[in-house]
This record gives sequence, structure tokens and C-alpha cells, in this order.
Amino acid sequence: MKKNNGNITEKIDSILSELNYKNNPYFQSLADGIFDKDDFIETQIQFYFAVTFFSRPMAALAAKIPLPHMRLEVVRNVWEEHGEGNLKKAHAHTFEELLKRLGNINLSDIDKRSLWPEIRIFNTTLSGVCVLDDYMTGVGTLGIIEQMFSDISSIIGKEIVKNKWLSEDQLIHYNLHEKLDEKHARDFFSIVEKAYENQEHQYYIDQGMWMGATLFNALYTGLFEHRKRRVFRDVKTLHSRAEGIPC
Ligand SMILES: [Fe+2]
Repeated sequence: MKKNNGNITEKIDSILSELNYKNNPYFQSLADGIFDKDDFIETQIQFYFAVTFFSRPMAALAAKIPLPHMRLEVVRNVWEEHGEGNLKKAHAHTFEELLKRLGNINLSDIDKRSLWPEIRIFNTTLSGVCVLDDYMTGVGTLGIIEQMFSDISSIIGKEIVKNKWLSEDQLIHYNLHEKLDEKHARDFFSIVEKAYENQEHQYYIDQGMWMGATLFNALYTGLFEHRKRRVFRDVKTLHSRAEGIPC
């Protein structure tokens, strides 16, 4: 781990290049054309549970950011995740449409799946850092995940088209997030840019960025490793009771 002079952009670059996440077997096998389509769809169904959960730790983090002008863009991000008031345009919904186009997967197919531990680890870790840790660590964590997802969206989108699973104009969700998440990442990092000049704050922000990047990379590794797994459930209920049972 190289020593850093207080420039957050350089730190992000150094973390991501050390992690080398684009060479993750998930993306490599897509690029090599050896990722079985059914396995890819199964892992994307699991990823859907991360997509639908992501705005919840983010909302918890927004509540911890001390000043309104600092938290504004995070609140906007949460609002966007909810389709800006129109749930049909919510990000979860564009992912449902993607699964439908990829493999004719509908909500009842999704609902039959058991949640994989890799996704529960991802979601629970995000809840943990956003609720219990310092807000700067949470911002570092979600910021680097948004940054990575911008590139990952571009990679996965291209490979879906290259593998001829969808045509360019049928592609949805990933083409949107390639651009949008670059902005979301910038919004997160601008919250802690000033704090990053202070060595002590820098330590906690770096901790969040390292953890988020490692967590997200491990998620894709785990999804790839268990791509042949097929687990279903008989109960029809939410995968998370993190905030109780809705009625
Ligand atoms: Fe985003």
C-alpha cells in the first residue's frame, strides 16, 4: 500500500489498480466468451437483490452526514433509486426489465430464488458500515462502489452485446449506470474531499474505500465461483428483515 499525499483521486486510482478488479474471473470469462448464459443470468438474478437493497444503507448514511448541503446529493441519489417518485422508473425496475429481456425471467421466478450468502454478506456489510461506522468511512465505501460500478456497467453491457445475448438497443440498466454512477461517485467523493486533507480523517476514508473495493470485487468472484448453484425456497417473503416486516 503506497503512502498518499492527501489527493483522494490518486488514492482511488492506486486502490483500484492494486486490486486489479477488471481481471476478476467474472469479467474475464465474459470477455473470453466462456460464461454460460444460464449461469450468467442466475448470478444476475442474485445481483438484483444487491440492486434493490443498495438505496437502504445509502439512506441510513444520508441521515448521518452532518450538514444539509453535504448530504443533498446523497438524498438525490436515494430519490433517483426510487424513480424520483415513480417506482416504475426505479433502478430495480430497469434491472427487472433486463432480466426479462435476457432470459424471460419475471418477478415470480426471482422470488423463488434463495438469497446467496455472497449477496447477504455484501448487503449486510454495507448496512454495518453505513449505520455503525463514521460517515466518512461509509462515504468512502459507497463512493468507490459507485466508481467501480460505472466501469463494471460498461464492461458487462459490452459483453452482453458481444455475446449476442441482447442487441445494443435492447440493452438496459447497464448503459444507464455507466454514466450515472460516475456522477454518483463524484458526488460521494466531493463530500469528503475537504476532510481528506486532514491525515486522521484520511485514514478513515481510506479504510472505507479499501473495504468497499475489496467487498465489491469479492462479490463478483463469489458469484462466479458459485455460478452453477441453483437454490430455491418455498416461502414467499422478503430476503431481508433488516428493518422489520412491512405491512
Ligand atoms: Fe448509482
